Amino acid sequence: MFTRDEALDRVERAGSAADLFGPFDPDPDRRKEAQRLYRGLAAVLHPDRVGPDDTRAHAASAQLTRLHHDWQHGARVELRTDRATYRLTDRHAVGSVANLYLTDGAHVVKVVRNPALNPLLHAEQDALRRLARFTDRHPWLRPYYPRLVDAPGEVARGSRAFTVLEPLVDGFVTLADVRRAFPRGLDGRDYAWMHRRLLRAVAGAHRTGLVHGAITPDNVLVHPAQHGIVLVGWSFAVTTGERPLATDRTISYPPEVRAGGPVTAATDVHMAHALMLDLLADDETAQRGFARGCAQDDPDRRPDAVDLLTEYDDLLEDLYGERTYRPFALPQTGA
Ligand SMILES: Nc1ncnc2c1ncn2[C@@H]1O[C@H](COP(=O)(O)OP(=O)(O)OP(=O)(O)O)[C@@H](O)[C@H]1O
Ligand SMILES: [Mg+2]
Repeated sequence: MFTRDEALDRVERAGSAADLFGPFDPDPDRRKEAQRLYRGLAAVLHPDRVGPDDTRAHAASAQLTRLHHDWQHGARVELRTDRATYRLTDRHAVGSVANLYLTDGAHVVKVVRNPALNPLLHAEQDALRRLARFTDRHPWLRPYYPRLVDAPGEVARGSRAFTVLEPLVDGFVTLADVRRAFPRGLDGRDYAWMHRRLLRAVAGAHRTGLVHGAITPDNVLVHPAQHGIVLVGWSFAVTTGERPLATDRTISYPPEVRAGGPVTAATDVHMAHALMLDLLADDETAQRGFARGCAQDDPDRRPDAVDLLTEYDDLLEDLYGERTYRPFALPQTGA
């Protein structure tokens, strides 16, 4: 329930329907949520409630009705920065803190669902800028990270932060999709190229002093045809040794994070190898043994990502001999 002042604040600050209700979204749950917000605000600002003399509330009430009408009719949501205007079209993905939208141009836009979590998006923008400076010096690592195109800087209180990104849409799936497609787990030869690349992404970030902090199946994009890996979802990233700004209830963290301690490079090493255990088939004994050694409870006993690059290659060579290209594809679902 809102107070009159809170409701006024919300409505008066909203420059557009999207500011108040979020980007237009045909999803029934999002529409119900918007409807609830509308009803909550409308009840508080209703003339019967505020009395006949509260002209400010009457104006806000009329404005609220207009904004809700716009939102319901799917008025194209436009998000502006100093540089450009981005017109959102379809929702592409739902993440842990944000939704990803396609635009009518060559970009995608990540919009936080709850303005209280704007700092997470700002942290991600900082991390992506750091990674971009790093890959300017090490261009071969560029394909492993998402590319920030634009961001609005500080947004008004109550508005949602957003980030404009280069799209990773054609041919990409998430590692969560891969896991669903192979319920009995992956052949070690297929996971080998994914993990080698993931280790490169993680080791590169660690060289800049960044810890990703949320290496989960949803945050690893895979391009099966091109054997591409991109580590996305940097909103929980911190400088090594810091405490996370927030944690995500749905993630099973290593013991040091569950204990409220700082996250370090060893945290990423644990998460990347817990992921490996999750993805590999049960009979991949040698690779699973390697992963367990990297996912020990004590962070000091886990190897560094940069050393793991060669250790993992050595293991692969022992297991499979010289590297050969092995095509990988998700099974057709027949849909
Ligand atoms: N640049 C991109 N292009 C296309 N799809 C993307 C891109 N970045 C992320 N995605 C997809 O959108 C989903 C949500 O993005 P992301 O993981 O960045 O948001 P989040 O989960 O809300 O935040 P975070 O992971 O940073 O906490 C991802 O799981 C992935 O499927
Ligand atoms: Mg994510």
